[in-house]
Amino acid sequence: MKFLVFGLVCLGLALAEEPFHYDGYKVYQIVPRTEEEAYYLKALTEEPGFDFWAYPRALNATVTVMVPPDVQVGFENDLEAKNMHFEVLINDVESTIRDEDTRQRMSRSAARGSVSFTYYMRYNEIVSYLTTIADTYPSIARLIVIGHSYEGRAIVALRISRGTGSNRPEILVDAGIHAREWIAPPVALYLINQLVENTANAYLSQDVDWVIIPSLNPDGYEYTHTNTRLWRKTRTPNTLCYGVDPNRNFDYYWMVAGASSSQCSEIYAGPRAFSESETQALRDYLHANSQRIKLYLTFHSYGNYLLYPWGYTSALPANNEELYALGVRVNDAIRAVAGTTYSIGTSTNLLYAAAGGSDDYAKGAAGVELAYCIELPGGGNVGFNPPATSIWPIVQETWEGIKAYHDYIRD
Ligand code: ARG
Ligand code: ZN
Repeated sequence: MKFLVFGLVCLGLALAEEPFHYDGYKVYQIVPRTEEEAYYLKALTEEPGFDFWAYPRALNATVTVMVPPDVQVGFENDLEAKNMHFEVLINDVESTIRDEDTRQRMSRSAARGSVSFTYYMRYNEIVSYLTTIADTYPSIARLIVIGHSYEGRAIVALRISRGTGSNRPEILVDAGIHAREWIAPPVALYLINQLVENTANAYLSQDVDWVIIPSLNPDGYEYTHTNTRLWRKTRTPNTLCYGVDPNRNFDYYWMVAGASSSQCSEIYAGPRAFSESETQALRDYLHANSQRIKLYLTFHSYGNYLLYPWGYTSALPANNEELYALGVRVNDAIRAVAGTTYSIGTSTNLLYAAAGGSDDYAKGAAGVELAYCIELPGGGNVGFNPPATSIWPIVQETWEGIKAYHDYIRD
């Protein structure tokens, strides 16, 4: 009996995991000027502890990396020895998180109604908003559960349609595949809000159907709220470390580039392609609807990029010109709102090679010719994510871009 009680107490302690803190974590910005400097920074991406917020991608492109306190002295010494100039963007990541949490608590308690763009909503709030919409507008909106996360959360989607007939073009949108990229779900929620609740936008679902998945990795997302703010992966337990990078887990040239086979890496591709129930859910949805899906948009952050396939090779897709030209239209529409600009190009050529992404899979394996990974804006010197006060301007300008996508699909 004693042992049983002891065992249960231990289990309880293990389950009530302490939140992780970022005290003394600094964020550095470095611009590689030579091949050697770029090589040094690329090598660091393999080092445990270094968390790249902006990956080394090209000469003269700013690299942003979060570094834990115990390796800062060595890191700064290395940079100085190599004569590499650096700047400290954030001196103490924990204090930016604390400040932002305080502000969000205030806007959360002031919030009214079932959707809000003044704070980052939790998974349960997101699900209840979708449920409310489906209940309130049954002729337009329908809730679909496309699968479940490892920890058993429903992966919910909202199908929005004001038309009849079965062969209507569909736009598939997801957000939140990377847990810490908090600005992505609100963009999807604003899309739902505007398409369904603002009658002036009824025309947008007249000829086109929308399926919107605001939180594709809900376990990871909740974990960023309760435990580790900058968690990126799923929450599958592996033998050494938790989680798989779901955007390296799709079975299209899996593991050929820019993905890791080490469990503890932030870009761990998984023990095998489609090891994660979250990626399986999207795969199954894609295949079941591949005839109708004309456009796939996956929202990430950050960096202001309109990326399109391929992510596994630097070769251009056959419809590169169309993908680029549509990206230009979208960028123009976004820029017209408040001057925000995006860079447009293939993932590999603009960022870096990274195989196993959902966009490559949608295009390469499910035959969705138009697929984009949209890297939304980040938080600059206040942290990885934009402060909650920026959710509103970002969702508004992005909405204009999404309308440009719609117009192209409709016409
Ligand atoms: N930042 C994203 C990631 O690392 C970019 C993905 C672009 N798409 C791709 N297939 N590589 O997952
Ligand atoms: Zn991402």
